[in-house]
Amino acid sequence: MGIRILGTGSYLPETVVDNQAFTAIVDTSDEWIVKHSGIHTRHFHDGPTYEMALKAGTAALENAGLQPEDIDLILCTTVSGDYDTPSMACVVQGLMGAKNAVAMDINAACAGFVYGLDMVNMYLQHGYRRVLLISAESLSKITDFTDRSTCVLFGDGAGAAVLEGTDAPFYSVLGADGKGACTLFARRPDNPNPFLKKQRTIAESDGFSPSKPGMLCMAGQPVYKFAVTAMPQAVREVCAKAGLPMEDLDWIIPHQANLRIIQTAVSALKLPMEKFICNIADSANTSSACIPIALDQAVRDGRIRRGQKICVVGFGAGLVYGSAIFEY
Ligand SMILES: CC(C)(COP(=O)(O)OP(=O)(O)OC[C@H]1O[C@@H](n2cnc3c(N)ncnc32)[C@H](O)[C@@H]1OP(=O)(O)O)[C@@H](O)C(=O)NCCC(=O)NCCS
Repeated sequence: MGIRILGTGSYLPETVVDNQAFTAIVDTSDEWIVKHSGIHTRHFHDGPTYEMALKAGTAALENAGLQPEDIDLILCTTVSGDYDTPSMACVVQGLMGAKNAVAMDINAACAGFVYGLDMVNMYLQHGYRRVLLISAESLSKITDFTDRSTCVLFGDGAGAAVLEGTDAPFYSVLGADGKGACTLFARRPDNPNPFLKKQRTIAESDGFSPSKPGMLCMAGQPVYKFAVTAMPQAVREVCAKAGLPMEDLDWIIPHQANLRIIQTAVSALKLPMEKFICNIADSANTSSACIPIALDQAVRDGRIRRGQKICVVGFGAGLVYGSAIFEY
């Protein structure tokens, strides 16, 4: 029992910002950004994150030829939703009119879509018929635009897939290393509590360095080192689980955090770069949305075709990683 993608959709906001624009707000250059990350432009959304989720989800439904009522589970992945509660999935369910769907969010950071696929696979094995998986992120809402080492790396966007069960196999490998939690985080603002005499701040506990509330704080190099090991390892492990030689994969869609990370994984795996679907130059790191956006773009431009074997591989804050193989 595995998953079949019935339709895909994505949304990138209209506002496109190039590297040169960042030189007006921080001490940086187009040359530095391109050399260190491979990013040329990113998109920023002026509005709630759920709007992008709705657009990507609706596009995926249309692509699948289905109505909102046909969906029995909406699963959203995000680290940058608009509300702590309700879930983004519930907001989307209401706006879409998907009245037969249960709805919830998960947070597995930039590996959210891969973790989401794994969960969807389990739900489909337990009686759910059609699931809408949406990854939507407004990283610009949690980006510190005075921090040059992070603000140039992120963008906004959303991607989605409609999934149903099939006999074609699905394999996944997930992992987490919470010891790296303090290398990439955004903390909740402290709420003064009149009943506590001396309130401890979250910022100074358990190894987390002081940071601006609600803003991403990252130690770039430890995350880089984790990524260049975790990505190739996750691809090798999921291929071993599937009993599939890596060369038999038609496409690999990696998380788009940094072109150098992807290139290092490519050489470690000794696979041709042409098998890797990359859009980081245009849309930067949109966290969990990167993979489904790239998937949708490659489906729509004809690179990905029915029957092909796809491997998705992600990593992110947590630290977490995950990979999956399925047939498109
Ligand atoms: C963030 C990252 C691009 C930085 O690249 P790097 O080669 O490691 O660069 P360093 O952090 O060593 O910084 C080198 C210098 O560039 C500077 N620098 C950082 N950002 C800069 C910018 N935007 N423009 C110009 N200079 C910058 C640093 O201040 C440092 O200067 P110094 O040597 O005078 O101290 C890289 O570490 C990375 O991609 N890490 C992983 C991030 C990631 O994947 N995050 C998302 C996970 S889902």
